Amino acid sequence: MDIIQAAKKRKSIRGYKPDPVPKEVLEQILELASHAPSAMNTQPWEFTVLAGAVLENVRQGNVDLLNSGVPPSPDHVVTSWPKESIYRQRQVDLAKQLFQLMDIPREDKEKRAKWMERGFRYFDAPAAIILSTDRCLSESGPLLDIGAVIQTICLGALHFGLGSCIEDQGTMYPQVLRKHAHIPESKRIIAAIAIGYPDWDFPANKVESEREPIKNVATWLGFD
Ligand SMILES: Cc1cc2nc3c(=O)[nH]c(=O)nc-3n(C[C@H](O)[C@H](O)[C@H](O)COP(=O)(O)O)c2cc1C
Repeated sequence: MDIIQAAKKRKSIRGYKPDPVPKEVLEQILELASHAPSAMNTQPWEFTVLAGAVLENVRQGNVDLLNSGVPPSPDHVVTSWPKESIYRQRQVDLAKQLFQLMDIPREDKEKRAKWMERGFRYFDAPAAIILSTDRCLSESGPLLDIGAVIQTICLGALHFGLGSCIEDQGTMYPQVLRKHAHIPESKRIIAAIAIGYPDWDFPANKVESEREPIKNVATWLGFD
């Protein structure tokens, strides 16, 4: 798959086949991703790759806390969007599309809660990659580098027929990851990636997230 196809084909996958992903495949994806750029080649990323019983324990731990009403306490700052902004509008548009595909009426609190749970369960993917960084680094410094490595993971996954979903939801309860995945307090948990073979019959996988035309977001100077 060439680079243009890959960038266009990558999308968030929120429903997976149960087939396990071989460890060797995940290793190859991480090796590829480690070629991502980082400031002064600092490579501030660490990967904790979960599958099997450990991943099940993490899923259960997340869902238990979510359903007990325990407030999320992520290690990283989670973005919020001003109410009247285009950013909030885009979030609403995405949610509307997903809820429509999943047949979740706005007023159906139970179905909405079940949908929310899926994110905390890494969308039942057979594997999840947790990205963390050392706390000796500044809070925002490594984020650009980790963003680059994340995108490279998601693109590399396509080469192996895998889908992925980057998620904040999977990092909302660091205490669960520390307990079951043994991520120490000295590491700041930044993001999670659900990864596995896409179930193309799963309705939410048909989502087509929109993009702003480049003419609206690019300023061109000195071209004529
Ligand atoms: C930093 C980050 C956090 C995200 N967190 C979530 C999440 O918690 N749950 C989710 O369903 N999708 C999450 N996403 C996926 C975005 O919703 C998705 O990338 C966006 O809607 C664009 O759609 P696409 O990935 O299909 O192109 C996240 C993406 C990023 C980059």
